[in-house]
Amino acid sequence: MKITKICCIGAGYVGGPTMAVIAKNNPHIKITIVDINAERIAAWNDADVSKLPVYEPGLAEIVKETRNKNLFFSTDINTAIDESEMIFISVNTPTKTFGKGKGMAADLKYVELCARNIADIATTDKIVVEKSTLPVRTAQAIKSILENTGNGVTFDILSNPEFLAEGTAIEDLLHPDRILIGGESEEAIDSLASIYGSWVPQENILRTNVWSSELSKLTANAFLAQRISSINAISELCEHTEANVNEVAKAIGMDSRIGSKFLKASVGFGGSCFQKDILNLVYIARSYGLNEVANYWEQVIIMNDHQKRRFSDRLIKTLYNTVSGKKIGLLGWAFKKDTNDTRESAAIYVTDHLVSEQAHIAVYDPKVSAVKIQTDLNYLNTRTEAENLKYVASVENPYEALKNAHAVAIMTEWDEFKTYDWKQIYTDMKKPAFIFDGRNILDKSNMEAIGFEYYSIGQ
Ligand code: NAD
Ligand code: UGA
Repeated sequence: MKITKICCIGAGYVGGPTMAVIAKNNPHIKITIVDINAERIAAWNDADVSKLPVYEPGLAEIVKETRNKNLFFSTDINTAIDESEMIFISVNTPTKTFGKGKGMAADLKYVELCARNIADIATTDKIVVEKSTLPVRTAQAIKSILENTGNGVTFDILSNPEFLAEGTAIEDLLHPDRILIGGESEEAIDSLASIYGSWVPQENILRTNVWSSELSKLTANAFLAQRISSINAISELCEHTEANVNEVAKAIGMDSRIGSKFLKASVGFGGSCFQKDILNLVYIARSYGLNEVANYWEQVIIMNDHQKRRFSDRLIKTLYNTVSGKKIGLLGWAFKKDTNDTRESAAIYVTDHLVSEQAHIAVYDPKVSAVKIQTDLNYLNTRTEAENLKYVASVENPYEALKNAHAVAIMTEWDEFKTYDWKQIYTDMKKPAFIFDGRNILDKSNMEAIGFEYYSIGQ
């Protein structure tokens, strides 16, 4: 099928950047991204591209180049479904918060709603592409919903998981290690492969059956997260033995069988996907009665929770076992640098713990708003919104966040943090002035030379 019109349901961190890059490389294809969230669509259409709902280096330029030429953002979901030959489902698949599988299984209600929407509207044959990360065998459920419409329309279902990482999404999309397409119909796979083929070499486009494709996405995230939990486990051992986790990571990473990427010890991984996808994998394994498999992967999450907790425990212990009434300056709220996404960010959990000990927190993040910080904390339901407001302030200037603070906690590895005037910060802080570097971005000897008591991960 020659594709001339594409609809993407879900204008989020994946749908927006992915479709922008497809549009840039396929000027002959009209792409409409739709969403039920009217505010988000309005932000995507904002004439001022600095107001786009997703911050990613390079994204605003591509949106500027393609928007209203062959890339459109709309809330009119039905029209976009009706006119398209290919429909991407790129909606959120969070962990279930209720009922069976609560806290573990993926909540597929948004995906199912999309399938039902497509089934209701479609009058011509469609290729439906699973872009969201889904449990293995979800395509079967989508197929069953689509095939029971009785209106004679044929649907081909493809799995085409996305491997971009936030903060480097555009680079990852422009130069992907591989594109994975799982499906039954060779013709449908060819249609999708030819869209990617306009900028990705054919040898990097991998074709598998649907189930391998679905499971490969969960597996890739589980392996990546496992590396972080592995190095974080070693970081704690380093702190007790005078080994240095950076040196250990370098030494093992130079073994080509291990490789150097994803070995940065940290305050724990965050983000919208690692935790939810591993929990989902654990749930699937348990549902097949594979308890050893489930326990094996669950340990990656347990280790990550431990790493976040021990960061705040260490801070409290070092500040003479109490942070009550003390000001702590927090640098960074996003779950990693170069994104405005805060989902599952370690900063949220560390702050929550410190506030429970009655610390006063002043947060500075270059891309996250004060409203978002409060929303993230309120979502945990640990205390009232008024109390969160009382204990946690967001400031627009990092020096203000650190003025008169007893300690600095670095939660995100934003590059600008490295270039601050740390001598000035030291002068303005209470003494002894402590730094807890959750990202190992500052130089220990420089900081100690200034006068700081410097604590990092695994050193
Ligand atoms: P997101 O929450 O940023 O975006 C999802 C969007 O879908 C939201 O704007 C929501 O309003 C919309 N939506 C939900 N139900 C809808 C419906 N029925 N009709 C129309 N719109 C609807 O999520 P995201 O980060 O873009 O992730 C989407 C999927 O991609 C998830 O399955 C995720 O696991 C996967 N993924 C995410 C990343 C990442 O880095 N964020 C990377 C790879 C894969
Ligand atoms: C991750 C994967 O890297 C993507 O391939 C995948 O597509 C995506 O999940 C997804 O499915 O959503 P993302 O979560 O956006 O991407 O960002 P990562 O770069 O993987 O970072 C995740 C977390 O791990 C961050 O908090 C980061 O700071 C932390 N991290 C990463 C470390 O602590 N150490 C490292 O060495 C690497």
